[in-house]
Amino acid sequence: MTGVRKRYPGSGVEVLRGIDLEVAAGEFASVVGRSGSGKTTLLNLIGGLDTSFEGELEVGGGSLRGLPDAELAAYRNRKVGLVFQDSQLLDHLSCADNVALAAHFDRGGRGDRARLRRRADEVLEAVGLGGAAGRRASTLSGGERQRVALARALFLEPELLLCDEPTGNLDAETGAAVVDLIAGLHAAGRLTVVAATHDDAIAAAGSRVLELRDGVLHEAAREGR
Ligand SMILES: Nc1ncnc2c1ncn2[C@@H]1O[C@H](COP(=O)(O)OP(=O)(O)O)[C@@H](O)[C@H]1O
Ligand SMILES: [Mg+2]
Repeated sequence: MTGVRKRYPGSGVEVLRGIDLEVAAGEFASVVGRSGSGKTTLLNLIGGLDTSFEGELEVGGGSLRGLPDAELAAYRNRKVGLVFQDSQLLDHLSCADNVALAAHFDRGGRGDRARLRRRADEVLEAVGLGGAAGRRASTLSGGERQRVALARALFLEPELLLCDEPTGNLDAETGAAVVDLIAGLHAAGRLTVVAATHDDAIAAAGSRVLELRDGVLHEAAREGR
């Protein structure tokens, strides 16, 4: 992306003031910065959740500017996987149904039940929850919920995984396990990861750390390595 600027309507402050960022396929970039620095704003733009910005934003070679709604929806569904601080599971549904949910909103992604279920088992297995497919989301611990959220994000095989403070609601130990999982998924596939975080462990797991400060991204020196 080049020269990306973002101001919320009615707000005097420009949150993003000219972001230039190139993330190579397969990279794991961590975005750090104090609360309110614009990390979520940046991820929302990359994820196609917010399309009102100035500048150029391309993901996977395609520009997100002026994309028709249907293509934008397909982009959000298929190209990116999103994980938030709050796992945003539907509590009354099983783990399998939670992770397969994206497919229900995706034209062409709808398969027969058996195929969806096999894929659900596969991604749950990948996040260390093999066997939990039938469990109701309401019975899961915080760490397990984030694992299911990760499985859901991976269900349609996205190229890009966007994580917004994925360990923000977890204790240190559980958070560390989720970080290891994200790092492992990244290492295992061709997945590109961009993670906004306060968590030093995630920042350290990334191949690159970017600090958002005063609306601009700074390549941060890696600490401890
Ligand atoms: N929907 C919104 N409308 C107006 N201002 C917003 C909105 N979302 C975020 N902001 C403001 O933009 C700034 C950056 O917020 P955010 O991207 O959430 O930062 P971070 O994720 O780094 O904590 C903050 O000052 C916040 O108050
Ligand atoms: Mg945020």
